[in-house]
Amino acid sequence: MNDGGQRQFGPLGRVLVIIPTYNEAENVKLITARVRAAVPDADILVADDNSPDGTGKVADELAAADSHVHVLHRKGKEGLGAAYLAGFHWGTEHGYGVLVEMDADGSHQPEELPRLLTALKGADLVLGSRWVPGGRVVNWPRHREMISRGGSLYSRMLLGLSVRDVTGGYRAFRTPTLEGLGLGEVASQGYCFQVDLARRAVEAGYHVVEVPITFMEREIGDSKMSRDILVEALWRVTGWGITGRANKVLGRRNA
Ligand code: GDD
Ligand code: MN
Repeated sequence: MNDGGQRQFGPLGRVLVIIPTYNEAENVKLITARVRAAVPDADILVADDNSPDGTGKVADELAAADSHVHVLHRKGKEGLGAAYLAGFHWGTEHGYGVLVEMDADGSHQPEELPRLLTALKGADLVLGSRWVPGGRVVNWPRHREMISRGGSLYSRMLLGLSVRDVTGGYRAFRTPTLEGLGLGEVASQGYCFQVDLARRAVEAGYHVVEVPITFMEREIGDSKMSRDILVEALWRVTGWGITGRANKVLGRRNA
């Protein structure tokens, strides 16, 4: 993690909050209202994977009533990673200076976003973090906390990252940071997408700052976490770790 010490950071520009949705018809109304109240200047992009529960239609109604709200309709469930990549592309094309990742289910509190954006004034990327002092998790089942803490620890050790919350999904990127991450090569579909972007940002030498957040477990709807998502994370992170180590060893030999 680069310390960013002497660097000058430019102005942030316009902010787009990207909210991926799959079966979040009730939540999408609530989260949109909260984002609009907490950061009135920001725009919202709902990236919906043709949710069977009609989330896309609800989002269209919200967009029709408020010019700050936009909807990206995708043809089917392709995972969190693909939805975010499409959202980043849309946001970059539309000239936003900051692209924010936020879950639809209220786990990431919009009221904390101004703190993330303030930190981004002196950083390339801000991670909302559950596992730094002041960060916490409310109402999470014990097994989810173990998976998340374990996943962060495993990723940190294998990838040599100093970031504490490697898997978190509440983040604010400067758009140029995203452009420097080689997004065209990102193949991660599930939640390991977050680990993938974090390691790319650190490896690219960006100044990454963690800000404590309070993660609230959802009250409405269901998590999309699955065995497949866990398995993908495990094999990808392990693969990145092995490749990284092999490159270091080979690099040393050649030197
Ligand atoms: N468009 C789209 N397509 N959205 C999706 C998909 C998908 O395939 N899968 C999940 N989402 C959306 C959900 O609708 C929600 O808005 C958000 O992505 C997060 O999904 P959840 O199912 O609520 O995630 P979680 O609470 O289990 O996991 C949280 O913790 C993980 C581990 O720290 C999230 O914050 C993840 O981002 C994080 O990696
Ligand atoms: Mn959730």
